[in-house]
Amino acid sequence: MKGMIKEPIKLIAVSAMAASLLMCSGVLLGTQSENAQSAMIYAGAESVSVPGITGLKAERSEAKITLSWDEGDYLGCNVMMYSGGKWVKKGQVFRKSSTVLTKVPLDVTRFSVTPFICDNNGKYHYGETVETECEFIPELAKVTGLTAAETKDTSVRLSWSPVKYADGYGVFLKYTEGYREVAKTAGTSYTVTGQPPSYRRHFIVKAYYKTSDGRIVYGPASDQLKTATCPATVSGLKASKSTYNSITLSWNRTSCSQYIVYQMKNGKWVRIAKPTTNSYTVTGLDNNTAYKFVIRACKLDDYNKEHLGWLSNIVQVKTAKNTITTKNGVTYVNGILIANKTYALPASYNPGGLTKETYNAFVEMRNAASRDGISLWICSGFRSYDTQRWLYQSYVNRDGKAAADTYSARAGHSEHQTGLAMDLNYASSWFDNTNEARWIANNCWKYGFIIRYPQGKQNVTGYKYESWHVRYLGKDLAKKVYDSGLCLEEYLGITSQYNY
Ligand code: DAL
Ligand code: ZN
Repeated sequence: MKGMIKEPIKLIAVSAMAASLLMCSGVLLGTQSENAQSAMIYAGAESVSVPGITGLKAERSEAKITLSWDEGDYLGCNVMMYSGGKWVKKGQVFRKSSTVLTKVPLDVTRFSVTPFICDNNGKYHYGETVETECEFIPELAKVTGLTAAETKDTSVRLSWSPVKYADGYGVFLKYTEGYREVAKTAGTSYTVTGQPPSYRRHFIVKAYYKTSDGRIVYGPASDQLKTATCPATVSGLKASKSTYNSITLSWNRTSCSQYIVYQMKNGKWVRIAKPTTNSYTVTGLDNNTAYKFVIRACKLDDYNKEHLGWLSNIVQVKTAKNTITTKNGVTYVNGILIANKTYALPASYNPGGLTKETYNAFVEMRNAASRDGISLWICSGFRSYDTQRWLYQSYVNRDGKAAADTYSARAGHSEHQTGLAMDLNYASSWFDNTNEARWIANNCWKYGFIIRYPQGKQNVTGYKYESWHVRYLGKDLAKKVYDSGLCLEEYLGITSQYNY
């Protein structure tokens, strides 16, 4: 046992019971009068000299202070700390030359030890109080406000809020094996450079305090910042295909989550698509018109925040000019026969019924629908010029010209005269939300048909929505028009307006 009373003995050894009590407790807290009472167990010598304390030092480990001093010939020591502007008794140590104080506030740095002995009369005698100081090691707060600034490259510019008492900050980057410190910095920002492009990176930052003996004491870690580096600049953007209403862009692949395609509209770059492959087709364009595009790569971080690379080269492309031809008074736009409000058929145009392809396609569609439990039939197929004239006139008589023009074609302008169009089941708006109408809308393209007058396109087609009217285009073109989401006028870049 450290600090045992040595020869020449001035005190009578403590009784066995008292000794075991003292050994168990180590540090006894107590008032002076309690101390005096416990001192009664000692029987005493007359002449008293209390040896001085030497070698006193205090070492801190957060809230724990280890006080130690050289062994000496005293019974014990009173241990005090200087807290809140006054000396406070922290404990009493018997027969030991060290003690550990716990829960010591971090701003308490001064400690004292006063040795004592007990004489034969049980009277305490105190020696000289010796003071020591330990270093002030502050408790550092958690780093907050950690953010990454927008960059356009493979560096990550981190910044965070300052922490009181911090001498600096450790920046830690997550690797597969865990967080590793990549930098120490005195300020509240740091740029981590040389990272791989288009890469998710997780960081934490901890404030640290540097002790006088050079130890680094870290505070708690900030919340994780999950960010990503920007992808490389996309190269080789070009228009690989251009039709009268579409432009296909393609570019060199680069590592990223997605690409962002911008189109110049009214002097501004406007995002139009976010493809994940290295090509994209812009549809619904006007024919014979110049367009400008640019793209960039984008990496999404864990929060789906975009990290954007630099813009690519700009491409300027002109769509092809529509070829509108007329043969025997019939208009073909890029080879497709058109009858609408702008383009009329001659009164003499009469294929004699639905064309063979159109009827065969209907049969294929009807059979497929039947397998799905859907019954389809033609309620109005081919209509001659004269039939249409009579029909249109009857609507004018009933509803007036303006209203009739929204749902019925004037003679020569009806698609029914082409032999390529038909009304299925019921030519009435109550048909719109039936299972049959839905089946037609979802499937007719597979058999070469399109819904010719789609919902919301009245000002383009010239007619109200007709869920029952389909137009045969052939499977390839029908799929393209269906996929484009455009009505036929938009797809071909033509109008549908009467000029009389
Ligand atoms: N119902 C269509 C527009 C026609 O009359 O041809
Ligand atoms: Zn019709």
